[in-house]
Amino acid sequence: MSTTEANEVPFNDLLVQWRQIEQGVKKDFDDVFQKSAFCLGPHAAAFEQEIAEWMGSRHAVGVNSGTSALHLAVVANDIGPGDEILLPAHTFIATAWGAIYANATPVLCDVDAETGTIDIDDARKRITDRTKAIMPVHIYGQPTNLNAVKQFADEHGLVVIEDAAQSIGARFDGRMTGTFGECGCVSFYPGKNLGAAGEAGLVITQDEKIADRLRCLRNHAQRERYISEETGYNYRLDGLQAVVLRHKLRLMDSWIAERKRLGQLYHEGLSGLPIEVPQIVNGDHVWHLFVIRTPMRDELQAYLNTRSIQTGLHYPVPLHRQPCMKTYNFDVDSYPVSDRWANEGLSLPLFIGMTDAQVNQVVSEIREFTANG
Ligand SMILES: Cc1ncc(COP(=O)(O)O)c(C=O)c1O
Repeated sequence: MSTTEANEVPFNDLLVQWRQIEQGVKKDFDDVFQKSAFCLGPHAAAFEQEIAEWMGSRHAVGVNSGTSALHLAVVANDIGPGDEILLPAHTFIATAWGAIYANATPVLCDVDAETGTIDIDDARKRITDRTKAIMPVHIYGQPTNLNAVKQFADEHGLVVIEDAAQSIGARFDGRMTGTFGECGCVSFYPGKNLGAAGEAGLVITQDEKIADRLRCLRNHAQRERYISEETGYNYRLDGLQAVVLRHKLRLMDSWIAERKRLGQLYHEGLSGLPIEVPQIVNGDHVWHLFVIRTPMRDELQAYLNTRSIQTGLHYPVPLHRQPCMKTYNFDVDSYPVSDRWANEGLSLPLFIGMTDAQVNQVVSEIREFTANG
């Protein structure tokens, strides 16, 4: 049974994924309840091992959200008050929370016109002697140019914390995003390519000491029960979420292949139109979001809405224009490329279970709009 009316194209439909994992998940939920293993526990430990192997990472530390992952990564790298972190202005607000929760200062940089990822030339202009880290965001599922990031970071002795919230499974030079930096942070928010049934996240690292500190910090900084070594956090991964994630992880390779196939279908269908279709510049793209750009964005969105096609905006207010950022006194006119992404980007439906007919329906309505526009 479909959750949507005939001819309606939802922005996402997670029920299709649930149908593929339902039986196994229900059985393993029972195991969690039998053992009362709700916070971490054997399924969380197994998931950490399985995802580390799948990502080609030495260590994986499960936490309760992508936001917590970013915060913990900053703390575990000894970055805090007085330190500055370079990050893109075009991203979801949680990237900046990673810095702000640790009382470090976010320093916003403009982004690349083609990919929407951090513009290293702009970052060069904003570096100071307080800069301690750079947080590239692999926005929409395309890697940042990690050669450029690493070279820049090495030149200035910066820690690299990858915000891989949207890019799980995307490779740069053959290696998965998240494995390049001191830490890589993943979100398992339900709508992500690997989504939990609620909140969950992950920090990966290749450094044993950092992994050890992350494990301690997420559990109230306790190595020994009821003894906290420093300020800790209750950021543990739920056992039930780990079950869902374990079952979905087994399907990830096929789901990524399917997302790529749908992305290719969009590319073929939308070629030659007076809109900007997203380009694969840095080797790979797992299409967490398929974002086209046009100055007629609002009109196109309204038009598609009247044709029962749901779309999304990611993200309409860039970080330098967020009310919470006023305190940092950014020059709001120095982010022209981020402003354009915010004003012109429109995310099209792309999800597991989307049919070719649905892609064709979206394409033909966009063709119709541009022909009359
Ligand atoms: C780029 C980016 N960073 C961080 C996050 C935060 O992840 P979470 O929602 O799991 O806290 C998200 C997802 O919402 C995101 O898209």
